[in-house]
Amino acid sequence: MAVVAFSDPDFVNDPYPAIAEHRSKGVVPNTDQGGWWVLDSDTIWKLIRDPKLANDPASADPDAPITKIFSKSRLSMFYMDPPDHTRVRGSVKADFAPRRVDEYTSVIASTSKTLISRLPDQGRVDLAAEYGDLLPMTVMSDFIGVEPERRDEFARWALIRINGIFDPAQGGPVWENATDALRGYFEERLAGSDDGDPSLLGRLVGVTELDDQEKVDLLLIMLGAGIITTADLIGNTLHALLSNPSEMELLRRQRELVPEAIEETLRYDSPALSVGRILTEDQDFFGQLIPAGSWLRIMTAAVGRDPARNPDPERYWIQRPNREQYAFGGGVHFCLGLHLGKLEAKIALEALLDRYQSMELAPEPGSAVRRGTPGFRGFKSLIVDVA
Ligand code: HEM
Repeated sequence: MAVVAFSDPDFVNDPYPAIAEHRSKGVVPNTDQGGWWVLDSDTIWKLIRDPKLANDPASADPDAPITKIFSKSRLSMFYMDPPDHTRVRGSVKADFAPRRVDEYTSVIASTSKTLISRLPDQGRVDLAAEYGDLLPMTVMSDFIGVEPERRDEFARWALIRINGIFDPAQGGPVWENATDALRGYFEERLAGSDDGDPSLLGRLVGVTELDDQEKVDLLLIMLGAGIITTADLIGNTLHALLSNPSEMELLRRQRELVPEAIEETLRYDSPALSVGRILTEDQDFFGQLIPAGSWLRIMTAAVGRDPARNPDPERYWIQRPNREQYAFGGGVHFCLGLHLGKLEAKIALEALLDRYQSMELAPEPGSAVRRGTPGFRGFKSLIVDVA
């Protein structure tokens, strides 16, 4: 029997068999974190936008293992409720609006060009580690306003922090040191003057509705929220195309379908599996009375593979006539960075299609290795023969 659990290596490697096996139960206990997984598509649709649910761990069962982790993680707006959530999100909302993000197009395009120029003209290359991972890290460093000379150090701390966010062993010394280093770095920068710096850090210096700790928390969550997710969107799209050469050919013939390919990845192989919410009143789900304070881990990825919502769900099909996916969550917590993430993935893919006439996954076993970070879904390594 397959199990739905972040602690289960088979689930982390491929959650979809377990989701399919348990879907009809609607909800199953979350044995690692406390609370319940929600697997039923109708219930997921309702819950992700339900304003009666909370995100602040102060409303949660204090004994649930995940309450302890999230209470100490200070995950900013992810785990806040209105009115604080409205205030914090409102202070940076404009930075992520489509028009503001579109101004970044040329910066992202030139970053992707630089990264791609370092890859060989032909031969074997790891397109996840040497390209897909580097673009979002570089773009996010730009967007935040990290100085070029400190980017390597910044990236090292950021990766340690990101990889530990859902890890039950989180809180170990390496993770804490990296988090402290990032906090120290942000505090130091926020104490400086903005000097008209248009980056997020520069802008936050002048923001009066947040205190210093709130600004640091906000910058910290941008790393977890905006880097690995986008790297995974690039890697998962690439993997789906490499595994479906006729879809790759279609994109070469019809470049305007690149955004559709990205939408199909969000349905078929979403970088984020689930969103968290807390029940604020007792509620019956599928004959199970779940008490107020329970965590609900709402498996948004289940909808993309639900045959009742997306016929023939195991097929990666760019021109699918209808598609339903909630890869960016919903309600007041709806992903703030989706325009940025999608734009990066689009540019990353177009640049690869321009650069290589041919891309094939290396035939040896182990050419596509999943990242294995609980809660996220992407590739650590994609070894590709390019020409
Ligand atoms: C491209 C792939 C991405 C995926 C799949 C993704 C997915 C998600 C999901 C599932 C949520 C939770 C939504 C909910 O609770 O209902 C979320 C929230 C969020 N995302 Fe994204 N994200 C992506 C990219 C980004 C980027 C590039 C950024 C920023 C630079 C970003 C910033 C945020 C923030 C700040 C939140 C918290 C919003 C809130 O609680 O109000 N995301 N994202």
